[in-house]
Amino acid sequence: RPVRIIGAPTDYGANRRGVDMGPSAIRYGGLADQLADAGVTAIDDGDVEAPPAEVRDPDAEAPAEGSAKFLRETRDVVTSLSDRVAETLAAEERPLVLGGDHSVAIGSVTGSARDADIGLVWFDAHGDFNTPATSPSGNVHGMPLAAVLGVGDFADTPWANADGLREENVAVVGLRDVDDVERDAINDSDVTAFTMSDIDERGIDAVVDDALEVACAAPDGIHVSLDLDWLDPREAPGVGTPVRGGVTYREAHFALESVARTGELRSLELVEVNPILDEHNETAALATELAASGLGKRIL
Ligand code: ARG
Ligand code: MN
Ligand code: MN
Ligand code: MN
Repeated sequence: RPVRIIGAPTDYGANRRGVDMGPSAIRYGGLADQLADAGVTAIDDGDVEAPPAEVRDPDAEAPAEGSAKFLRETRDVVTSLSDRVAETLAAEERPLVLGGDHSVAIGSVTGSARDADIGLVWFDAHGDFNTPATSPSGNVHGMPLAAVLGVGDFADTPWANADGLREENVAVVGLRDVDDVERDAINDSDVTAFTMSDIDERGIDAVVDDALEVACAAPDGIHVSLDLDWLDPREAPGVGTPVRGGVTYREAHFALESVARTGELRSLELVEVNPILDEHNETAALATELAASGLGKRIL
């Protein structure tokens, strides 16, 4: 299956500017070469349209939408991204979405789960399980997993709710920064969540095996959402919300290689790369390497 690259240059969902340059940084960081090394035919579809935040009013819909900043702008971008992802899959190609902040996952996942029952693996330091009612920050990048599962107010948000996704087929891996209300919501859900402590105790191999088993139980393949802050900030400094104690370079590659081994990867996304905060674009370059591992790059 050829890979279709779709950039989603947003920063509406993040509290730090610069993540909208993620798609450029990832392309510049060697994406084409890495995909070629993985033996993949790649087509670059350019970016979905995302006007800079400066031209928008963050409070435009504040009364109706609760405490979620730029929710209308997010809706516009994720709706077109969702269509692009669904069209890509309908053409028998595999979408590779480049964020942008993690709110773009609403588009990737809804598009991937259109007319299909999919699993989801969410590699992240954060749960991203807030809703406008529970978010301490109002930043939509802390909400996309709740959004696609239709948690809380998102139950009535048609552009957010993913059709063919059930909590039973969702695994989150690498948690180490979760808000109080968010913790309760995750525990009350049927999502399977693994913290960094689980990885410490059981090893990356066992945890990723379990996560993939949960996701691969869905019949139509899996979407993998990779937030670069999943890795330790020493490996991936170019992210807006770094949290100490993340996975290592080797563990991350191992996890993505495990994804490739399942043969079930349907769509992939790389999010939260912020070149303004990065060191010599190394986080973007790392994202390209991990994409290659996920898409089947082998050393021998
Ligand atoms: N839990 C925090 C919030 O809701 C941080 C979320 C960070 N999310 C991310 N995709 N980096 O604002
Ligand atoms: Mn995160
Ligand atoms: Mn194993
Ligand atoms: Mn995230």
